Amino acid sequence: MTYSQPGLFELQPTFTVHSLFRLWVMDVLAALRAMPAHSVHTAFFSPPYWKVRDYGVSGQWGQEATMVEHIANLVQLFHELRRVLHPTGTAWLNYQDATAQNGRPATEAEIEACARRTIEKNYPTDQFAKANGWNRSAGTAKGSGLKVKQMLMLPQRISLAIQETGWWLRSEIVWEKSNCNSENAKDRPSRSHEMIYLFSPSSRYFYDIHAVRNNQWTSPEGWVYGSQLRTVWKTTAARSLSKAHPATFHPELPRRGVLLGTSSLGCCPECLSPVLPIYEPGPADLAAQRRCGGNSKGEYHGKGRRDYAAEGAQDPSEVKRRRLKSMVPYRLCAARTSCACLRSPDHAIPCTVLDPFSGEGTTGRAALMNGRAYVGIELHPGHAQWQIDNVAPMASLLGRLR
Ligand SMILES: C[S@@+](CC[C@H](N)C(=O)[O-])C[C@H]1O[C@@H](n2cnc3c(N)ncnc32)[C@H](O)[C@@H]1O
Repeated sequence: MTYSQPGLFELQPTFTVHSLFRLWVMDVLAALRAMPAHSVHTAFFSPPYWKVRDYGVSGQWGQEATMVEHIANLVQLFHELRRVLHPTGTAWLNYQDATAQNGRPATEAEIEACARRTIEKNYPTDQFAKANGWNRSAGTAKGSGLKVKQMLMLPQRISLAIQETGWWLRSEIVWEKSNCNSENAKDRPSRSHEMIYLFSPSSRYFYDIHAVRNNQWTSPEGWVYGSQLRTVWKTTAARSLSKAHPATFHPELPRRGVLLGTSSLGCCPECLSPVLPIYEPGPADLAAQRRCGGNSKGEYHGKGRRDYAAEGAQDPSEVKRRRLKSMVPYRLCAARTSCACLRSPDHAIPCTVLDPFSGEGTTGRAALMNGRAYVGIELHPGHAQWQIDNVAPMASLLGRLR
């Protein structure tokens, strides 16, 4: 399987009626405009960050002269995405902020050498940049209109601009990278997180709340334990599988987006409406309730000393009581179709996950490993080829298993 020129690379796996792997090797807006309306259930992606790295391919995003142009491009992307997303769909945007800097941008050879050393020798990018006399975010001071050393606040600016176009901004998640290298700055804490924003085109959308839980474990009877997922997601720093891509996801991030944003039970082959999972609550998790301060029956009867109602404040004892009560496991017990055209959930087909800046296909692997179909868009021919060689075969295997 080889990719030769811009266009759609599609893999039709044996024994399935629709493709599980599609890769548009072209500019993101051109591909989105060519895609069928309402064909994607969730999009999980990280665009090229503004002026952080040069992917060495003409038409790439991230090299816009000003911050305003970069934000306008992403707003345009969300405009196109709105048509492509199913009305019940969601979009997850990952972005890391930078600091306004002057200085000389890196040459392509320097970026390559830096990426190689970071991957092979775990050498911090910032230290490499300093040793070689360039800045990772070179030119951001000029292009942002901000003074040197000011935070750009780009994740927030982008998400607010998208919100203003009518999208619902539903969650702000901090991706904490537990073992990332320290930055060079000596006058502030070293940044160790990125942001992830959850958007939806309407106020009601598909979200499988029980698909990913904090401290999740499953009993032999199928009860899924753990508390509701929180907004800080901690993983180790990401590592490129191909050793050629400088900026990949940690696979846990798209895995969560895929499980939360698409139905494990698939969707209607006609209108693509998701099949809704129905969960039943199980017996209370007594051990966890006791660990969190419950009595032998897992209950909490403590009373606050102040009159919280009179002060118009929340009573912490009441909150604790409610939290202990909610410590129950869940189990998938039934399915409900959400459209008139699907007569039985047995006829459902896999939901579809999109990554419009798919790099080496981390989102694609997460989608396929969880039985979903994948659509990627990637401009760089080398990155696209890697996906065709390494991700597409997973789709073909999944197609045979189904
Ligand atoms: C931050 S990386 C995404 C990496 C991906 N999340 C992964 O885990 O592999 C951004 C990708 O967007 C691609 N890209 C840049 N400009 C593009 C454009 N205009 N259209 C499509 N892809 C583009 C780059 O080649 C790069 O692979």
